[in-house]
Amino acid sequence: MPPITEIEDLRRIYKRRVPRMFYDYCESGSWTEQTFRENSSDFDLLRLRQRVAVDMAGRSTATRMIGQDVAMPVALAPVGLTGMQHADGEILAARAAEAFGVPFTLSTMSICSIEDVAEHTTEPFWFQVYTLKDDDFMRRLFERARDAGCSAIVITVDLQIMGQRHKDIRNGLSAPPKLTAKSLADMATRVGWGLEMLRTKRRSFGNIVGHAKGVSDPSSLASWTAEAFDPSLTWDRIGKLMEMWGGKVILKGILDADDARMAVKVGADAIVVSNHGGRQLDGAISSIRALPEIMDAVGGEIEVHLDGGIRSGQDVLKAVALGAKGTYIGRAFVYGLGARGQRGVTEALEVIHKELDTSMALCGRKRIEDVDRDILLVDDDFHRFRRNA
Ligand code: GLV
Repeated sequence: MPPITEIEDLRRIYKRRVPRMFYDYCESGSWTEQTFRENSSDFDLLRLRQRVAVDMAGRSTATRMIGQDVAMPVALAPVGLTGMQHADGEILAARAAEAFGVPFTLSTMSICSIEDVAEHTTEPFWFQVYTLKDDDFMRRLFERARDAGCSAIVITVDLQIMGQRHKDIRNGLSAPPKLTAKSLADMATRVGWGLEMLRTKRRSFGNIVGHAKGVSDPSSLASWTAEAFDPSLTWDRIGKLMEMWGGKVILKGILDADDARMAVKVGADAIVVSNHGGRQLDGAISSIRALPEIMDAVGGEIEVHLDGGIRSGQDVLKAVALGAKGTYIGRAFVYGLGARGQRGVTEALEVIHKELDTSMALCGRKRIEDVDRDILLVDDDFHRFRRNA
């Protein structure tokens, strides 16, 4: 087996191993994919200040996210259909996360159910919910998450309607895949993936099938979102959902300082600066570009996290330097999972940890808490997009 030296190594293996339909689902942004691309490329507008002759002994990347000890400021993001990237994918990713000491966030659109993941792990995980119309379903989801011991809820606030990803339409994305000539041809070349999938019973949306009422096609993400999601979402409703849960809440999908202030007002414990991995509003700015203004607006009042575009420990370091208390990896862990199952997720975490640890040291810092804007050199272009009222 070739050594894994960077996240890109895992992506290449993943691409060969997993059916195109699911690779494309992961590797897509909406419409032109501009925001998806810039989430990663905008990290290049930040450079790191190399420092020398600074004591680097006894370093640690350990810190806390929402009061929880973490081995590094990185959590696994909620990713729909993870169990289609590898059989039992959510269970494997959750196990890798808990062994590494970072939080795992289970998506409502997971293949393995909340109960299933709880049964196969020992640490509490975080559970992500969308804002759905059906109060009973929401209440039951919260109850199930509580029974499973989830320590926080991540409410996705940027997906009441879904951005279009062309490839999912062309591929006829569903879970389980519908058996058409195209999907059969796709899966026929992915033998390892297929054999593992045949061995598991987990092949449909475990939190939805048998739990949500009145869904005409529970295998289709697009049809479920169109029917069940609440297009009339307001901050009031978000507040009500937070009350319904009653525990720690992270609001995911904030990209604007005004919205960040609203999140503080409703009493969230943390926000995730995010554009949904470039999968919703194409043309929105990258998460890393949105971070400084949001930090200036609410950094003193609420914990700020960031997702989108993180493919390395250097990216994590830059986000932390701009003030993020934590970051999330989505695609980076899915590459590992699709490539090599649980071991691949561990490898993704190890790669990012090593890059973070070494880069932090070469910037002359020994602890995450000591990392600040002072380690950055910022391209003039980084602040190019300003509000023009
Ligand atoms: C769901 O949240 C997705 O981005 O596909």
